[in-house]
Amino acid sequence: MMPTAGGWSRWTGYLVTALLALQGALALDLNIDSSDSIKAAASNAAYGMMIHYQGNETGHIPGKLPGTWWEGGAMFMTLIQYWHFTGDDTYNEEVIEGMQWQAGDCDYMPSNWSSYLGNDDQMFWGLAAMTAAELNFPDSTDGYSWLALAQGVFNTQVNRWDTTSCNGGMRWQIYSYEAGYDMKNSISNGGLFQLAARLARYTGNTTYAEWAEKIFDWSATTPLLSNSTWNVADSTETTNDCATQGDDQWTYNYGTYIMGAAYMYNYTNGTTKWLDAVTGLLNVTLDRFFPSSHGGEIMSEILCEPTEVCNDNEIIFKGLLSTWLAFTSLVVPSTYDEIWPKLQGSAQGAAATCIGNSNNTCGVRWYGDVWDGWSGLEEQMSTTSIFSVNMIPFMNTSAAPVTSTTGGNSTSDPSAGTTDKDSDTETTTAITTGDKAGAGILTTVFVGMWIGMIAWVLIG
Ligand SMILES: *[C@@H]1O[C@H](CO)[C@@H](O)[C@H](O)[C@H]1NC(C)=O
Ligand SMILES: *[C@@H]1O[C@H](CO)[C@@H](O)[C@H](O)[C@H]1NC(C)=O
Ligand SMILES: *[C@@H]1O[C@H](CO)[C@@H](O)[C@H](O)[C@H]1NC(C)=O
Ligand SMILES: *[C@@H]1O[C@H](CO)[C@@H](O)[C@H](O)[C@H]1NC(C)=O
Ligand SMILES: *[C@@H]1O[C@H](CO)[C@@H](O)[C@H](O)[C@H]1NC(C)=O
Ligand SMILES: *[C@@H]1O[C@H](CO)[C@@H](O)[C@H](O)[C@H]1NC(C)=O
Ligand SMILES: *[C@@H]1O[C@H](CO)[C@@H](O)[C@H](O)[C@H]1NC(C)=O
Ligand SMILES: *[C@@H]1O[C@H](CO)[C@@H](O)[C@H](O)[C@H]1NC(C)=O
Ligand SMILES: *[C@@H]1O[C@H](CO)[C@@H](O)[C@H](O)[C@H]1NC(C)=O
Ligand SMILES: *[C@@H]1O[C@H](CO)[C@@H](O)[C@H](O)[C@H]1NC(C)=O
Repeated sequence: MMPTAGGWSRWTGYLVTALLALQGALALDLNIDSSDSIKAAASNAAYGMMIHYQGNETGHIPGKLPGTWWEGGAMFMTLIQYWHFTGDDTYNEEVIEGMQWQAGDCDYMPSNWSSYLGNDDQMFWGLAAMTAAELNFPDSTDGYSWLALAQGVFNTQVNRWDTTSCNGGMRWQIYSYEAGYDMKNSISNGGLFQLAARLARYTGNTTYAEWAEKIFDWSATTPLLSNSTWNVADSTETTNDCATQGDDQWTYNYGTYIMGAAYMYNYTNGTTKWLDAVTGLLNVTLDRFFPSSHGGEIMSEILCEPTEVCNDNEIIFKGLLSTWLAFTSLVVPSTYDEIWPKLQGSAQGAAATCIGNSNNTCGVRWYGDVWDGWSGLEEQMSTTSIFSVNMIPFMNTSAAPVTSTTGGNSTSDPSAGTTDKDSDTETTTAITTGDKAGAGILTTVFVGMWIGMIAWVLIG
């Protein structure tokens, strides 16, 4: 047969692929048995992430990323973990400045952005603060303590526990004028479950543990979480009392429930209920998001990667699952041997794909040994996480998150956030017409962008 045009471009494609692979072999040669090699890869990824952040420059707002607010929380969480695992404090000042600037009244409801936030948006900042407390991240000299910030997010969110439908649960959105207010979803409920479990373990305060158990048990009464198959759905509807589910499968939804169950296991000194949840959820997670078609040890966002339709939010999810699995392996030691080959395989897979632009730009997909042509803050955030956690095997017990009785000294404020009258549903009438219009416009734009997309995702 004569070569067709298609044939030629296919061979050109193979050639480019081969050249990229060669360049990759020269550029980012990750050796997971070498801590120096892992640190170099993590440093490279973090640098590539931070070229997208101008919050510490004149004329910019600390902690605010262009076009998104929640991603700032995820980015700082990633940098706190990066510092903890690698010891590199290059970005610490920016983390402290941004985390305090956006703190609102110690609850991550800053008035510039609060009128169109979802519970999950706020939660990511709360989880970043919790992580800072657990990893003994340096305190701010004149701001809120990390623990108080996490408590502030907990306090404002439990106030929004909604019994008007489905016998409980967190709605996705905070205010009724936001698109998505009619949904209850896994990341909002799993996020608060996780935060409550981590606060319980850190402080020893049983109120947090009771909330964690209540949120988990409630989730299991809805399609969001099955405690028999351990399926985690993305969302369910309040309009039919949580009878139906949006069953999209996302790594971070599993990750947030695994993380919460792992901390409850640890907090309760190893009860069966929480071990069953961890092992059940882990089993599905490892089977589903580490496809055997790519060797079975490389994490993949299976819903959007094959067809290359992952949006910015979704590109972050693998980084979240990476760190939540890593912490799970530390607080539920019996999972370590099962989890580690997957985190190491994923890091090696990712490194082999971070070969873009001749400067180690990372793409979305971590399999295939080629750069997929994607780039951005979110791609770099996820690879910063998967490289950073691979330092754990070199750290022994110093990798584990601490508590107030094992070296953590972040100052507790159980009533943090309770004085902010703007931050709960009771006061939505206080939102001005201007705010409402602003929120509505943004929401409409977002909803417009989402039409035809495969999943409901985070706002902001
Ligand atoms: C890598 O190269 C691309 C294309 O030149 C550029 O846009 C990007 O900023 C570079 N990244 C880093 C981390 O230097
Ligand atoms: C912002 O932080 C980066 C380090 O990430 C640093 O290189 C830069 O000089 C800082 N800018 C200002 C204005 O402090
Ligand atoms: C709120 O917006 C003002 C005006 O742009 C800005 O100066 C301030 O830093 C912002 N604060 C937060 C927390 O984003
Ligand atoms: C599963 O969850 C339901 C609803 O919370 C509960 O009634 C049931 O006891 C749970 N089953 C197990 C095995 O924990
Ligand atoms: C776990 O064990 C410790 C030490 O024996 C004990 O102080 C603590 O109360 C136990 N925690 C729970 C939730 O039972
Ligand atoms: C999950 O459980 C099923 C059924 O017991 C088993 O066949 C499968 O190998 C398990 N997967 C993992 C990753 O352990
Ligand atoms: C709780 O986590 C710590 C820190 O990783 C670990 O040493 C301890 O064994 C865990 N407790 C249980 C019951 O597994
Ligand atoms: C970790 O433990 C191993 C074996 O116990 C020891 O050789 C190594 O020095 C320890 N590493 C650190 C960073 O403490
Ligand atoms: C916690 O301990 C660190 C290290 O010893 C210290 O620098 C910090 O000031 C302490 N923080 C508080 C709130 O006591
Ligand atoms: C435990 O947490 C609850 C809820 O925030 C709070 O009301 C209570 O004061 C806390 N108890 C202690 C001893 O800190």
